[in-house]
Amino acid sequence: MSPLGPFRNEPVLELRRAAARQQLAAGMDELEPQLPLRVPLWIGDDRREGDALVSTDPGASERIVAVAPMATEADVDAAVRAAADAFPAWSRTPAERRAEILVRAADWLRRNRAMLAALAARECAKPWGEADADVCEAIDFLEFYARGAIALDQGKELFQVPGERNEMHYGPRGVVGVISPWNFPIAIPMGMTAAGLATGNTVVLKPAEQSPGCGYMVVRALREGGVPPGAISLVPGDGTAGAALVRHRDVSTIAFTGSGPVGLEIIRTAAEVPPGGRHLKRVVAEMGGKNCVIVDSDADLDDAVPAIVQSAFVYAGQKCSAASRVLVHEAIADPLLERIAGAVDGLLVGQADTFGTDVPPVIEEEARERVERYRRLAAETGRIAAERREGVIDGGWFVPPTVAADLPPDSPVLHEEIFGPVLAVERVENVDAAMDRVDELAFALTGGLFARNPHTVQRVVERTPVGNLYVNRSITGAMVGRQPFGGNRLSGTGTKAGGPGYLLQFVEPHVVTENTMRHGLVV
Ligand SMILES: NC(=O)c1ccc[n+]([C@@H]2O[C@H](COP(=O)([O-])OP(=O)(O)OC[C@H]3O[C@@H](n4cnc5c(N)ncnc54)[C@H](O)[C@@H]3O)[C@@H](O)[C@H]2O)c1
Repeated sequence: MSPLGPFRNEPVLELRRAAARQQLAAGMDELEPQLPLRVPLWIGDDRREGDALVSTDPGASERIVAVAPMATEADVDAAVRAAADAFPAWSRTPAERRAEILVRAADWLRRNRAMLAALAARECAKPWGEADADVCEAIDFLEFYARGAIALDQGKELFQVPGERNEMHYGPRGVVGVISPWNFPIAIPMGMTAAGLATGNTVVLKPAEQSPGCGYMVVRALREGGVPPGAISLVPGDGTAGAALVRHRDVSTIAFTGSGPVGLEIIRTAAEVPPGGRHLKRVVAEMGGKNCVIVDSDADLDDAVPAIVQSAFVYAGQKCSAASRVLVHEAIADPLLERIAGAVDGLLVGQADTFGTDVPPVIEEEARERVERYRRLAAETGRIAAERREGVIDGGWFVPPTVAADLPPDSPVLHEEIFGPVLAVERVENVDAAMDRVDELAFALTGGLFARNPHTVQRVVERTPVGNLYVNRSITGAMVGRQPFGGNRLSGTGTKAGGPGYLLQFVEPHVVTENTMRHGLVV
């Protein structure tokens, strides 16, 4: 049992309750007068402000949410040097003490929960329920890794023989560069950073250029909790700053979550040992997906339809776990498609800070153009079976939630990550044919199955390549500790955030063998 007590997931707010809605609305009232946030480049005790990097509200693109300086290569170097200087003291801090500090950071998040959810709603257009869950997940990562690091610090039992003592313990690797995406703007940077810090590494965080304000709050929480300034620095910037962090000689571990192409570039760069480098850099990479839901002929459509629609369209399909293909048994394909189309017609497209919104705008103009390209392709080469235009307004990056059907098997709509509110529905002869199509994909992040027959479930479980398979439920919303999360194949390096093995990526093992046969004592 951990000295911190058992881990429990932070309960999300029940937004059907008026009091919970009022709590979040008060968070927005607290946040608004602070906007635009002035996010610093924050290295040790030095703070430098600037306005080269600007984040805006995806729902009202003229509204500025945060301004920050754009970190240069020299800034990244200064942050890594500060982290390297802070490493000896932080790595020698007992694991229990580091854990207490992370738990205090979690308390800061709890105290500021509504304001932080409001910031995620403004900066990344997360609807209230999603924004609140994002803060809860950040709290969970802190609490979970704090406990995990205490357990890991005990080392592992080895085989012992008389006259010899063998011990194995895990030590931190050094400076961790954390590079995060915008779609879980608090939870994901906090998760990767907390894992690095809990295990005794020091960290430089480069949040996504779309969400510097949320990245700032991650570092504030950790510093308020008591992480020493040099041990966690913030370098706001774009991919250039991220690449500088990856290349840096003194960064030993890179924790990255984001798109496949960027992840692959990071893995390639990290394989080069820079002159004077003393590490084989380790890359922990969580990347994109093309997530399929299989629906067998005996599925309960009352369960399947709402779960599929939720998985595909909540947060405008911008979760890495979002459903993007449905492979349905031909015997029930027509009723399923009709019911999905009906449900899409009932989706509320609107601003993230309107309670009840299902589909907010996508993150930025470039994202809208990308999704629109796929929608055009679907219309030209297949058929648009449903789209919901009501609520799609000018001034924000709205895209109508769309269901496509009758696409050719080699369509990019079926094979590439769209990362927007587009769902493709395909007929298949049976579940095995569906599994063949899943198996053709290079991605293997999440997947779903709706089937009543336990043998079918077992067959799919045995064959599935995905990192997270959900049976007879929605395929998003993994909970820390309950659904360790991460993909296989080109979706990631196979680590599982919020799972038992995750912290092992941030440490290196040391085995000490002592000959305990003493032949007299030298005095
Ligand atoms: N598997 C998962 O757990 C998971 C979770 C969330 C998001 N994602 C994926 O993330 C993507 C969406 O996020 P995004 O648009 O922020 O991704 P992205 O790859 O564009 O950016 C992610 C981060 O990488 C940085 N970056 C960009 N170019 C870089 C380079 N050359 N070197 C180093 N860093 C660089 C960005 O500045 C950002 O901080 C989707 O593909 C989604 O599936 C995966």
